Amino acid sequence: HNKDTSMPREQGGICAEGNLHGLYLMFNACEGAEAALPRVLAGLASWLQSSADRNADCAFNGFIAVGANYWDTLYPKQRPAELTPFPQFEADDRQAPSQPVDLFVHLRSDRLDVNHVAASEVCRRLIGLADLVEEVRSFRYLDSRDLTGFVDGTENPVGVNRRAVALVGEEDRPFQNGSYIHTQRYVHNMALWDQQSLKTQEDTIGRTKVENHEYPSDAKAPFAHIKRTNLKHADGSSMEILRQSMPYGNMQEQGLFFISCCNTPAHFTAQLRSMVMGEGGHYDHLLKYTQAVTGAAYFAPSIDFLEGAAG
Ligand code: HEM
Repeated sequence: HNKDTSMPREQGGICAEGNLHGLYLMFNACEGAEAALPRVLAGLASWLQSSADRNADCAFNGFIAVGANYWDTLYPKQRPAELTPFPQFEADDRQAPSQPVDLFVHLRSDRLDVNHVAASEVCRRLIGLADLVEEVRSFRYLDSRDLTGFVDGTENPVGVNRRAVALVGEEDRPFQNGSYIHTQRYVHNMALWDQQSLKTQEDTIGRTKVENHEYPSDAKAPFAHIKRTNLKHADGSSMEILRQSMPYGNMQEQGLFFISCCNTPAHFTAQLRSMVMGEGGHYDHLLKYTQAVTGAAYFAPSIDFLEGAAG
């Protein structure tokens, strides 16, 4: 049959609904691994899909993404049109550092043990090909709140709009139904946050804490997080991203593992710039209480691309 007429299948984890537990694995590829990796990654992506079917009762899902700085080594023939390194920003004591990683494996489900088994399989298949450089285990906190106590994800796209926002369309045919992924691990200063009054906390986000009501436009401060990130194109349409962020941590360190999935890197880049660099001297005051310690840009290709590139 003619493959070009069928829609490439996206990796299931990109647009998946929220879960109770997440497990993120970051790898750097070994010297020369690019010869064997395309086949292993195609096998892994299809294994993740069949695991999702077998573990539908706990809503298991996953995706694999390839780092912007490693892409050309792994797939020298074709590159997603807009794939660029992580946009690094810095102003005063606010930093959004870039720390490139070659491979990102995103695993989620409603069972810790299922995630653990999947992660073990991923690591087993990558032995000798890639070294694990970081692992983060995330969890749903209360009713999908960030550890600051505010509901996170309210303004995310819903239903079919999730795919429209997160997946590349026909404009880049070889990479259709792939997704531009940005991650940042934020470490919260919980002691400082907890010292702030409820009013200061709510002004910082631009929403109320318990009821999660959006502030009316005229009450939103220019430094409020949702003021700094709700950006519009010149034609008035919203610059949307699909956020798949979840809280993580232990008693020594805690925060948000931020994840953006989008059909372009431009929206995340504009939002991050707006948070860190601000506008008219107004930066995102959330950054007074949390600090990004990592930042990486990836592309999560369709399963069909991965299989095609495996030869
Ligand atoms: C909204 C938390 C980082 C983009 C929100 C909301 C919360 C939140 C509580 C309001 C509820 C919602 O609509 O989800 C956080 C925390 C962060 C963080 C705790 C880091 C520690 C980021 C970053 C970006 C971002 C790095 C993008 C560069 C957005 C967007 C919205 C949002 C686009 C929706 C704005 C709207 O249309 O109302 N975030 N966020 N966030 N955040 Fe973040």
